[in-house]
Amino acid sequence: MKKIMNATINEEKTGQVLEVYGWVARKRDLGGLLFIDLRDRSGIVQLVIRPDSSCYALANSLKNEYVIKAEGKVVLREKANLNIPSGKIEIEVEKLELLNKSLDLPFDLTNNNSLEDTRLKYRYLDLRREELSSKLVTRHKITLAVRNFLDQENFVEVETPILCKSTPEGARDYLVPSRISKGKFYALPQSPQLFKQLLMVGGMERYFQIAKCFRDEDLRADRQPEFTQIDLEMSFVNEDDVMSITEKLIAHVFKEIKGIDIKLPLLKMKWDDAFNNYGSDKPDLRFKMMINDITDIFQKTNIEFIKNNIDQGGIINAIIASDVADKYSRKELDKLTEFVKTYGAGGLIYLKMEAELTGSIAKNLSLEEKEALIKKLNLKENDLVLIINGNKKIVKTALGALRCKLAKDLNLIKDDDYKLLWVTDFPSFEWSEEEQRYMAMHHPFTMPKDSDVDKLLTDKAHCYSKAYDIVINGYEAGGGSIRIHDENVQKKMFEALELTDEQIKEKFGFFVDALKYGTPPHGGLALGLDRLTMILTNTENIRDVIAFPKTASANCLMSECPNYVDDKQLQDLNIVIKKGGIK
Ligand code: AMO
Repeated sequence: MKKIMNATINEEKTGQVLEVYGWVARKRDLGGLLFIDLRDRSGIVQLVIRPDSSCYALANSLKNEYVIKAEGKVVLREKANLNIPSGKIEIEVEKLELLNKSLDLPFDLTNNNSLEDTRLKYRYLDLRREELSSKLVTRHKITLAVRNFLDQENFVEVETPILCKSTPEGARDYLVPSRISKGKFYALPQSPQLFKQLLMVGGMERYFQIAKCFRDEDLRADRQPEFTQIDLEMSFVNEDDVMSITEKLIAHVFKEIKGIDIKLPLLKMKWDDAFNNYGSDKPDLRFKMMINDITDIFQKTNIEFIKNNIDQGGIINAIIASDVADKYSRKELDKLTEFVKTYGAGGLIYLKMEAELTGSIAKNLSLEEKEALIKKLNLKENDLVLIINGNKKIVKTALGALRCKLAKDLNLIKDDDYKLLWVTDFPSFEWSEEEQRYMAMHHPFTMPKDSDVDKLLTDKAHCYSKAYDIVINGYEAGGGSIRIHDENVQKKMFEALELTDEQIKEKFGFFVDALKYGTPPHGGLALGLDRLTMILTNTENIRDVIAFPKTASANCLMSECPNYVDDKQLQDLNIVIKKGGIK
């Protein structure tokens, strides 16, 4: 039997007798006539039950969320409801069967107002809401479009292991203890990175996988501990080849899902420019508000704290919110100050372009400084200038975050506007304050720019790599690189990351060995499927696009995991939980 999807029943089926299934979403009694909104995944069809019908008593006893089967003739409604696809018809029920009852639900399915924790505990009920189920349908359509496109492009989908070896660098691993090899652990893959490179050594040439990845890291609105990548790798390619195929894939997905044509090739922006102008390696280009460096204007300033900062190698930068100075009271500006402080900024300086420049430091500015600011920033009446003074990383990052906040607060972002770009030429390394050493910015298999291979050991701060991220509306939707295929360069990279020969052998020995057997030049990238789905379904919460997600503390409220296990299971694994170790 092929079940009819309720929402597809329309006036073309008038006169036909149909069998429909679903959940009672709503029941109304209008002067003896009973109306039932029957819901299935597709939506609603209206049932009508007349008082003289043999199934009236049963229909009258139905409650919300009872599961029923109904049979009857499709008729035109007296008054159409044009808000739903089946709104011109209804089904006059002749036969009715109760398939299952339901308890009263712990929350109301007709709105979004219930606590998220309650909805996560009863996720299987929340999934009955069209708002959520439609996102899973979109996710399915995305993976289908991806598979079709990549198949056409000669990619082969290959599964790689979930029980892997723990390798250093990157996020913290999820570990799985081995029962047979006592005291030893598997790690769940943070990504299939090494395996996909080994598939290139194995001659697969074009690989992809819709791959589950696991990372034990602090969670955010766009991060889950387990998430899915559209993972690609190709042999005999350069950066442009990988970017070109990826952007065609993305354009195909946008066309299939949204019917939108994405103009190719996408804009390419160097990492340094993204950071300097937008304070981020994932700039949101749906609005302008670029960061302006005004350090040169303050070279001879008398304002002590700015002078001290510049003397110590710091910078002073500004963003301009056009024509909104009158909207920002002292109180509002204090809120913005608190916001930038969470990014490490010492404070926020503001200026307003009124009849003249006013604001927190206006009185202390020299005439030349004022004139230079008005000229350089091209200030117009009612512009608000927000300025941060401090070290470069903090100034850029805080202003980058502030421009995104202002764009939201000021409603500068249009619906269904998509701005895609590549960020390229990433630094190979970033300094870790925590570890007090340079860490790989992408991962240790990323090829440095040809001109920078020699800097790996001598000038890490100025070593750039053949890495690229694809950014959509301020989200890092994906990232990848050309890989090191030369054993000696790979060794140099490990050395640059301060791994000892022993660590290299122990952690990556199998991989370094593989590079000795005719490894082709290769590169690839991984797109975050969850993030791509978020973007295409207009949600800012990654949980909305995952059927059974975890909370911000990596718990599943529905199944209550993680959880304790039996002593017997621990014994098998030779694991003893430390006394007082459980909090
Ligand atoms: P990377 O670590 O940049 O690269 O990950 C690729 C993409 O995966 C998504 N992503 C996440 N999505 C949800 N929750 C998370 N915790 C999470 N972490 C990452 C992002 C990101 O852009 N092996 C490399 C790829 C390569 O070099 O080919 C990798 O994993 O959208």
